[in-house]
Amino acid sequence: MDPPLPHLGLHLLESVLRLVQVEELAFLLDEGELAVQVVAPGVAGLCGRGDDAPVGPARRRERSPPMTDYGAIDFFRDETFVGDPYPYFEYLRAQCPVQREPHHGVVMVTGYEEAVRIYNDHETFSSCTSVTGPFPGFPVPLRGDDVSELIARHRDELPMSDQLSTLDPPAHPAHRALLMRLITPKRLKENEAAVWHVADRLLDAYLDQGEGDSVRDFAEPFTLLVIADLLGVPEEDRAEFRAGLQRPEAHEPGIGGTGEETLKHHPLDFLYGRFTAYIEERRRRPREDVLTGLATAVFPDGSTPEVADVVRVAANLFAAGQETTVRLLGWALRTLAEHPRLQGLLRTERQRIPAFIEESLRTESPVKGDFRLSRTATTVGGVELPAGTTVMLVNSAANRDPRQFGDPEVFDIERANTRRHLAFGRGVHSCPGPAGPGRGPGGDRAAPGPHDGHQDLRAGARAGRRPALQLRTDVHPAWTDRAASGVRHRRR
Ligand code: HEM
Repeated sequence: MDPPLPHLGLHLLESVLRLVQVEELAFLLDEGELAVQVVAPGVAGLCGRGDDAPVGPARRRERSPPMTDYGAIDFFRDETFVGDPYPYFEYLRAQCPVQREPHHGVVMVTGYEEAVRIYNDHETFSSCTSVTGPFPGFPVPLRGDDVSELIARHRDELPMSDQLSTLDPPAHPAHRALLMRLITPKRLKENEAAVWHVADRLLDAYLDQGEGDSVRDFAEPFTLLVIADLLGVPEEDRAEFRAGLQRPEAHEPGIGGTGEETLKHHPLDFLYGRFTAYIEERRRRPREDVLTGLATAVFPDGSTPEVADVVRVAANLFAAGQETTVRLLGWALRTLAEHPRLQGLLRTERQRIPAFIEESLRTESPVKGDFRLSRTATTVGGVELPAGTTVMLVNSAANRDPRQFGDPEVFDIERANTRRHLAFGRGVHSCPGPAGPGRGPGGDRAAPGPHDGHQDLRAGARAGRRPALQLRTDVHPAWTDRAASGVRHRRR
């Protein structure tokens, strides 16, 4: 069955569409840096030629590698492929969809079927290193035919070992169930009003200031405040959350970093402190609020979790939901800016927005890849993997596997199987953020928003006119993700 559509993502993308409805926005495209191949996918009236800007974001060639000796480049430490990893993924898949890279011994899974096979086999493949992969490395050598015992003994020494994504059964299903009690359809429905409210408020401020950066000034606070509302963080504390959580510097080491200092500072300290206080207080004095629901939630067997367990669940939502959604917003906004006809179509036929989101997720998966560690020897795609092998399930490559998606580099919102993408992973750890079935509650606003009715977002400066919007491409020195492209606007 196709995975459900993202609920929060839908709201956020609706907001993007409204964000771009300001008077005059334009991208500055440096021809030398960024070439966009014109792709006409033949979707009726959608991305055909004759547009005033190239169609199809496919085959973006940013920072093209100056050399073709792909094997010599360390994907994890060299920045060559940060801007555009796709040629490297194609190179890998051409050799084998399950291919060991030589620098860290990581088996790169770029094939769709092969990635699904591993995602669905949580008995053979542990998630203990799912976030950090080969860095900083397993504390002891992984020798033997079955490394399950070593994993059990040392997993607490691994970074992020207390996070849901890195748990294995039996701990994982119990903790995931706790989390799923929070993301109920009822709660999401209640959250919907807050999503619109947050969007309107941020856009007011963002547009009023005359110039800004869409990622820093809109997407980041937006996703943060939406998740804060989902968890019932009191309104009066949200400014403090913004101050405590928004990343100060794009290049600050963190998840996805490969340096010595990676994760030295626990990225979730702030959340742990705040939620511990909330949960303890609500357990002492229950109220009629979401945090009390969080504080009194029980495991499936009826037992009461430790405060720390509940705090982790809350922190998980912030950690897993925020940057991912920010990246999706960045990519979607950029796509809209570069493709005015697509933008126009989505304005008039809003029912197509879900398909646009799905294709955005497929073509530029915000989580480039997830890691797994094999407990025992196994075979995937005809390739033998010994026990203790680190595999990277390269979602963004699997989502462009031509055996699964025809003409994978073409951005096509009428693609029949788009929703089979792996941007949300698969199997027991698949992203619980998307709500199903269908679009989730709401998603489209019946009445026009306060920022509707403005003109469009443009890709490329118009001749003879000063551009009102500049493109800023952050290059985040991380290998699991590609930074969102920021968009700066300047009022004319
Ligand atoms: C575009 C947006 C998002 C993308 C692309 C995304 C992607 C993913 C992926 C690929 C995984 C699987 C990790 C693995 O198998 O190792 C995951 C897990 C997870 N996501 Fe998302 N996510 C998004 C948004 C969200 C949101 C909005 C939330 C919460 C509000 C969220 C919460 C989580 C949690 C808690 C997990 C861990 C689940 C588990 O281990 O059982 N995500 N996400």
